[in-house]
Amino acid sequence: MASTISPPGPETLPSPEDQQKAAEQLLRRLPSLPTVSARLLGMMGRADVNLKEVSNLIISDAALTGEILHMANSAMFGVRSEVRSILQALAVLGTEKVKGLACTVALRSYLGNALQIPALKRCWRHNLATAVVTSELAEWARQDSGEAYTAGILHDIGRLGLIAVDPAKYLTMLDAAVGVSGCLCDHERAAYGLDHAFAGEWLARSWGLPEFICSAIRAHHRPQTARYDEIGGLINYGCRISDVLGFSAIEGLQIEDDPLEEFLGLIPAAQRERMNINPRELQILIASRVNALEA
Ligand SMILES: [Fe+2]
Ligand SMILES: [Fe+2]
Repeated sequence: MASTISPPGPETLPSPEDQQKAAEQLLRRLPSLPTVSARLLGMMGRADVNLKEVSNLIISDAALTGEILHMANSAMFGVRSEVRSILQALAVLGTEKVKGLACTVALRSYLGNALQIPALKRCWRHNLATAVVTSELAEWARQDSGEAYTAGILHDIGRLGLIAVDPAKYLTMLDAAVGVSGCLCDHERAAYGLDHAFAGEWLARSWGLPEFICSAIRAHHRPQTARYDEIGGLINYGCRISDVLGFSAIEGLQIEDDPLEEFLGLIPAAQRERMNINPRELQILIASRVNALEA
């Protein structure tokens, strides 16, 4: 049961200018992304990218190619026959899904050994679950599920950045946040001078990610302003629903609202009836897909 300890008060929180300075310092300390991953991230927003271009870039990195093929053949996608090449993966899964998988591999390698620490692994699993939930929500809302997956896997890159810079420091902050009410963002601002949404937008811009992803990352803990079926709205619900389904970054997080019910209430009635969603079944589906991506 959560205690009633409060998060850091407003007097300890930095101004936007101070957050800006903290973000600049953070960016300088971040380990750089492998070149191929950085170029792939830069391709995310380009609508004119062709399959051959994406394929050529991925196959220039043997480890990345192997991991993407491994994930493409996982239970997450349920492909009928084995996917043996990146071009085939692009044809079977579509460019957006393969870009999403490339992002997953790139970010996971970014975290490196920090993933051995259970509390930090929990943060990573929250990201994976949000990507899976967001892509499912996109299908319900009749949007591009591959694009939604990518946005979901990237939504908490600010947190992954904070972890990559200093895993021990983030772990100490997470420990202090367990059982304390409020958003983790309050603890981050007190510990780092900025929160992960702010850091995430900075990172996204520095990696050349498209504007709609940058602004969705910045706003994902603010009160909902985007439509439920736009990327910003899908990410907001995806993050909150993955918390409710047991994939929160903080262990034992107490959640009072029901974002899944809220989301379903926004979907046109006729469409909702056809979907026949059961929260327990959804939890099992998400867990199995997250596990498949991690296997
Ligand atoms: Fe977040
Ligand atoms: Fe999140």
